Amino acid sequence: MELELVLAPVNDSLLALGEAELCARWGLSPAEAARGAAFVLPRDRAEHASARAVVRAELARRLRTEPAELAFERGSHGRPRLAAPFHDADIDFNVAHSDGLVVCLLGPAGTLFGVDVERATRPRDLQVASDFFAPSEVEELLALAPAQRLRRFYELWTSKEAYIKARGLGLAIPLDSFRFSFTHERPLLTIESGAPRLEDGSADRGDAWSFQHLEEGEHLIAAGVRAEPGSLVIRRFTWPCDRAP
Ligand SMILES: CC(C)(COP(=O)(O)OP(=O)(O)OC[C@H]1O[C@@H](n2cnc3c(N)ncnc32)[C@H](O)[C@@H]1OP(=O)(O)O)[C@@H](O)C(=O)NCCC(=O)NCCS
Repeated sequence: MELELVLAPVNDSLLALGEAELCARWGLSPAEAARGAAFVLPRDRAEHASARAVVRAELARRLRTEPAELAFERGSHGRPRLAAPFHDADIDFNVAHSDGLVVCLLGPAGTLFGVDVERATRPRDLQVASDFFAPSEVEELLALAPAQRLRRFYELWTSKEAYIKARGLGLAIPLDSFRFSFTHERPLLTIESGAPRLEDGSADRGDAWSFQHLEEGEHLIAAGVRAEPGSLVIRRFTWPCDRAP
């Protein structure tokens, strides 16, 4: 299965535009703008608006329409999806942003996929892992040399986040009800018997999923899809304000 991953740095010229201008230029809805207003820092508000702008621009390009023509609705746990008139389009997306980078994963509708990004150099209290991750994940993490632990922490964090986002359930999935192992070429997912079932009522299976990591500067990105490993096409987003006049 081919997925496309769009990388969009949130740079200074974009931040200088500010959230209101970003919302206006890409036709963000009042609901999208209101969601952004919940962020305290102007920088975070602009990054949120940038993420929504990337989603609108990328979907509009594929659907041959204008970004402002798109409408969105959210699933019961908050995952956004296209609403009418494009609700039947054979395209889905998942977006993440962190500390200066927006990533948007696009693929066919009806396939479960999710993405996460973190600035993997930012120090973290690894106690978070002991509190929330599966016991085997914590064990493997602590068995590593201290210098390798931060990297593994972010590999775990982004993989787990990509999975719960792909399922569309967010934190309604207990973080210790599934686990990743990194002793193979790609992250290997195992799902415990009590984990939330798929929409059709069947139990999810870890071996039905493929995960991979990519680095972009200091950022670590995880992409997960419920399919055989396939190609991931990387595209770098160009903001209109970055183009030469
Ligand atoms: C909401 C959540 C899906 C992601 O939150 P996050 O890490 O703060 O934010 P990200 O940048 O990765 O993703 C945000 C985007 O995910 C999408 N999203 C929201 N709910 C979603 C869901 N249930 N499923 C999939 N995607 C979702 C939205 O597009 C959202 O951006 P928007 O609100 O501007 O549209 C959820 O996983 C969460 O609250 N995480 C908190 C962090 C945490 O404890 N993670 C544990 C990791 S092991």
